[in-house]
Amino acid sequence: MKIISVSDKNEMSKKAAQIILELIKEKPNAVLGLATGGTPEGTYKELVVDHQKNETSYCQIHTVNLDEYVGINPEDPNSYHSYMESHFFKYIDLPKDQRFLPDGKNTSVEACAHYDNLIESLGGVDLQLLGIGRNGHIGFNEPGTPLTMGTHVVQLTESTRKANARFFGSLSEVPEQAITMGIGTILKSKKIVLIASGEEKAEAMNRMLHFSVPDDCFPASALVQHPDVTVIADEAALSLIKFSKE
Ligand code: PGA
Repeated sequence: MKIISVSDKNEMSKKAAQIILELIKEKPNAVLGLATGGTPEGTYKELVVDHQKNETSYCQIHTVNLDEYVGINPEDPNSYHSYMESHFFKYIDLPKDQRFLPDGKNTSVEACAHYDNLIESLGGVDLQLLGIGRNGHIGFNEPGTPLTMGTHVVQLTESTRKANARFFGSLSEVPEQAITMGIGTILKSKKIVLIASGEEKAEAMNRMLHFSVPDDCFPASALVQHPDVTVIADEAALSLIKFSKE
């Protein structure tokens, strides 16, 4: 696991965008695994600015997102479909039929298996962008999720629903379930870039970086098994880490 320590969220966003752009330059038809939430917003902004300035093209790119809330329509402003549209997709030249997110309205076992098959049929994810939850979740894989699972439906923990209530009017509006790529799905990505910013992630980062073997009580610990993980975190998120940083 490579750790890149940066001064703040802005630098984190720039660095993550730079790594994504390097991949696109090298492989213009790459498959990008994308994340939602507060952390990646700045990364998408950087990519949009680059697209406008340097005309980096997404016309051959495919994207697959980590997760979606269950029971929510793609048009709902709180859906991750809407998030991706408003933060990224509407600004770039990525064809509509090359963007994929799990379907929050069809969460059957078949639909979950279909999502994993789709990723495989695209040749697998070249780079998966990840955030991390305060409880160590990646995607929406909450503590206790078996680390080998494919795409599946999860019951969101109270702590995750509370953390995400800021995007909704109130806690009661936050869906109770989500459909998420499993950790097994995530670990198949060729490269993983995990971004973290702020003091509220310090505890989770400290725990994640101290695991040497995966432990399903803390899902992000699964990343120790992966050969190509880059963590980009700001000083606040790394404030509890005792060992030397890059
Ligand atoms: P956040 O969420 O970026 O909104 O903090 C990250 C996550 O829960 O994975």
